[in-house]
Amino acid sequence: MKVLSIFGGPRKKGNTSKVLTWVEDELKEQGHQVERVNISSEKINGCLGCSKCKENLNEPGCIQKDDGNIVINKMVSSDVVIYASPLYYWGFSAQMKAFIDRCLCLYRGVCGSAEHTSFVEGQRQALIVTAADQFENNLELIQTSFQRILVYDKAYSAGELFICNCTTPDELGEDIKFQAINFAKQLFQDTTTPYSLLIPGGAPNYAPK
Ligand SMILES: Cc1cc2nc3c(=O)[nH]c(=O)nc-3n(C[C@H](O)[C@H](O)[C@H](O)COP(=O)(O)O)c2cc1C
Repeated sequence: MKVLSIFGGPRKKGNTSKVLTWVEDELKEQGHQVERVNISSEKINGCLGCSKCKENLNEPGCIQKDDGNIVINKMVSSDVVIYASPLYYWGFSAQMKAFIDRCLCLYRGVCGSAEHTSFVEGQRQALIVTAADQFENNLELIQTSFQRILVYDKAYSAGELFICNCTTPDELGEDIKFQAINFAKQLFQDTTTPYSLLIPGGAPNYAPK
């Protein structure tokens, strides 16, 4: 299977990258083809809101000639997409948010209407977030954002991994590595029971329908 990791953190050796690397290594171990895109290293402007992308019914794509379309095309040709971001002000990093806005070109029609189509319909998508603080009053917004992105993309949740109370990458120990490996192992399992994990602390017991 083709897995695309979309890494949205500016720190290539930070907490998020370390956790994502554990996940990617396990996926490679399982024989999957894994590619990481470092969004911060790409030139991806924000969405212009011009809706020109909606005019082409046959393929996604934006009129902006930056790296956005390249990543969008990688996304379309993948079986699983993993969004990995540090938590910045209760949401995605600015770099990741710019890319997510560009994903407007992935769907057509009003969300929820009969005309709603998506170029990534049926895809499995997963979320990894690292944060300095606890889950409560902190990570709910990014969790909700991810779940709404799934609806627009007509994609399935393949799992959510929230690593809370992070300090430095060196402090991320074997317990976190174990959870990252478990997270990777279940990415291809039954999509009706997606993985949701909060470390450390009590899990929010999220179980989407
Ligand atoms: C601009 C900025 C905003 C942040 N906002 C939050 C936040 O809202 N909640 C939180 O728990 N941590 C926040 N943090 C901490 C990071 O999410 C945390 O340290 C994360 O693990 C960093 O990931 P990295 O090492 O991959 O860069 C913020 C850090 C920065 C630099």
